[in-house]
Amino acid sequence: MYNPLEINKDLFYVGVNDRTTELFENLWPLPQGVSYNSYLLRDEKVALIDTVEIGFTDVFLKKLEVLLGDKPIDYLIINHMEPDHTGALLFLLNKYPNIKFVGSARIADMLEGFYGVTNNVIIVKEGEELSLGKHTLKFYMTPMVHWPETMMTYVQETKTLFAGDAFGTFGTLDGGVLDSQLNVDKYWDEMVRYYSNIVGKYGGPVQKALQKFADTEIATICSTHGPVWTVKENIEKVIALYDRMSKYEADKGLVIAYGSMYGNTEQLAEAIASEAAAAGVKNIVMHNLSKSNLSYVIQDVFKYKGLIIGSPTYNARLFPAVQNLIDELSNKNLKNRYFGYFGGYSWAGTSVRLLGKFADTMQFEILCNPVDMKQSMSEDVYAKAKTLGSNMAMKVLSDDEIVPNKTTDCE
Ligand code: FEO
Repeated sequence: MYNPLEINKDLFYVGVNDRTTELFENLWPLPQGVSYNSYLLRDEKVALIDTVEIGFTDVFLKKLEVLLGDKPIDYLIINHMEPDHTGALLFLLNKYPNIKFVGSARIADMLEGFYGVTNNVIIVKEGEELSLGKHTLKFYMTPMVHWPETMMTYVQETKTLFAGDAFGTFGTLDGGVLDSQLNVDKYWDEMVRYYSNIVGKYGGPVQKALQKFADTEIATICSTHGPVWTVKENIEKVIALYDRMSKYEADKGLVIAYGSMYGNTEQLAEAIASEAAAAGVKNIVMHNLSKSNLSYVIQDVFKYKGLIIGSPTYNARLFPAVQNLIDELSNKNLKNRYFGYFGGYSWAGTSVRLLGKFADTMQFEILCNPVDMKQSMSEDVYAKAKTLGSNMAMKVLSDDEIVPNKTTDCE
């Protein structure tokens, strides 16, 4: 059986927890699982907001049955078509054949493309409303957060925002669903990881979406993943976090991400880190890219404003794991970072030149001459590594504005 949680009057949580799937989107690790959140609003008309991943259809439909008995569902509001939220859709249609699908024009397109559904589709536009009786739903188009069809739904009477993936986190809901029922400490880093891995490329569209709600009172945020946010301080915190991340703003700290085959390039990373620490940087995260999962590297890169990347030359190219990282950062439009780079080689070095090419394509402030090392550490190379570490520390700890597309000489 199931004990329905009433979030606010007539609004029930009907989502599920996934503690089985290893990789979200078959890419990003889920060590703490993930929830697929769905919500049922019981009024004169009944609206379901989003569904769940297909593997959880059975438990999902049973939850609906407990709440509705034989009563039908009038509307399925689709804020986002990605299959982790629409997987159960055809089973739902089978059980509730008169259900009407409500979404943006792009959602209608995708509804046909993914599921062959063309009947009973209501297309809504920016600002349109749908009355359920005592509750009125208002729709806001928020394209590219993080797919083109995405929209959000706001219930004016209860000031509840159904935000789709926005403000979501990895991590299951263990017992509680509301932030007030949970120790939410574990979710903050997972919110950064979710944002940076899934949504991070689309800072501009996220900013536009946030601006739409800048003057709207929000008492409850119902995301499609993670806790339902109801505590005022938490709501302020999640909105502020999204605001900062979507502007590519970051904290005072440094990520050093490197590849190293036999430890020589790693010794350079150690020298830089130790000098930065001596100059006062406490938040230093070092990622050996052969071992660290990319998901966590990206999370840390979104968290801190200093980034140093190092690579050996490998078959006249970058070390593969380093290439993988810079491809991802480039794809995610990362900007607004202090950047330094270094490399190692045995007989013909190309890694430093290739990292320089990458840096030139990004909106970074580049620090110091790159440190290039032949075979192993020398006094001269060590001195250059220390210079990069101390200059990076100075920048990272300052309150200066980062100047994109500028190269800053080092002392
Ligand atoms: Fe949770 Fe973009 O799907």
